[in-house]
Amino acid sequence: MSAFKDGLFEGKVAFIAGGTSGINLGIAKRYAELGAKVAVCGRDPEKAARAAEEIGHGAIGMSADVRNFDVIHGAMKNVSEQFGPLDFVVSGAAGNFLAPVNGMSANAFRTVVDIDLNGTFNVFKGCREFLNTPGASLIAITAGQAVNAMQMQAHACAAKAGINQLVRTLALEWGPDVRVNGISPGPIAGTEGMKRLAPNDATRQKHYDRIAMKRWGEIEELAESAVFLSCDSATYITGAILDCDGGSGVGDATPPSLERGLA
Ligand code: NAP
Ligand code: COA
Repeated sequence: MSAFKDGLFEGKVAFIAGGTSGINLGIAKRYAELGAKVAVCGRDPEKAARAAEEIGHGAIGMSADVRNFDVIHGAMKNVSEQFGPLDFVVSGAAGNFLAPVNGMSANAFRTVVDIDLNGTFNVFKGCREFLNTPGASLIAITAGQAVNAMQMQAHACAAKAGINQLVRTLALEWGPDVRVNGISPGPIAGTEGMKRLAPNDATRQKHYDRIAMKRWGEIEELAESAVFLSCDSATYITGAILDCDGGSGVGDATPPSLERGLA
């Protein structure tokens, strides 16, 4: 059930980095349903082609690695030449796996930081000259690890914290003509991220216990948040990180026991 009206994004152009699966694909689909011309990219060209087909509405699916500035810059140049200047850019590509610092190499740490943080820098820096300004909206997909440290997540915690500060810095530097915000999803059902971070029942339960709303999030709910931040209802919002997480970042969601503890 959506509060947004049909045709809201008619005439708009959107580029979604990492939009070939999961949450980002959900965002791409919603933008397209609302009338935007949409392009998505990921590393795997076949997956990108399948995503474009699933999005429909003439969407473009391309292969581009966000770790390579020239490649991602070229992809966005290509899209702006075909569709026109970019109104909305979402940076959502990410890599993740559970590993303690003692169990990850320097390359493992660097790989996640490279995709998530450096990738977001490349996407945002790379799109700047192709934006439809004033009024363009950039969104980075971050995570609760940016503010709540989590074991076996040193790489993602560092990368996503960096993304939050990059969002805020760009909001300041580009304030007059580009809005820059972040969305921080909670645990979202049926996603690759959930599969990797909650690989067994015990871990799933730990994540569940943190959720104030006592249910997993849906991809469509993340897409609605992205529509809100991109649309004309959010024209004075920049530098914000919107938690769409059922309250899982708020605090301890398990009630204290009323039984008498230590005196
Ligand atoms: P996902 O389905 O694995 O999506 C990741 C996307 O990024 C895919 O399209 C992938 O395609 C692409 N990608 C990966 N590395 C790339 C690279 N180097 N260059 C370009 N594209 C690349 O993940 P998800 O679970 O939906 O998560 C999406 C976003 O939400 C991520 O930013 C994640 O950190 C965030 N998030 C997710 C959750 C959750 O519950 N799932 C919670 C909090 C935050 P290829 O593999 O073809 O490259
Ligand atoms: N534990 C410890 N180290 C790991 C690991 C794990 N589970 N998985 C990968 N690594 C290490 C590798 O061993 C390698 O380090 P090394 O060269 O010192 O051996 C390093 O990470 C890079 O791995 P590689 O497979 O070469 O990277 P890639 O660029 O092909 O893939 C990943 C990137 C590892 C993040 C891969 O999981 C991926 O493509 N993820 C995208 C999807 C995803 O994670 N979605 C969820 C988003 S929340």
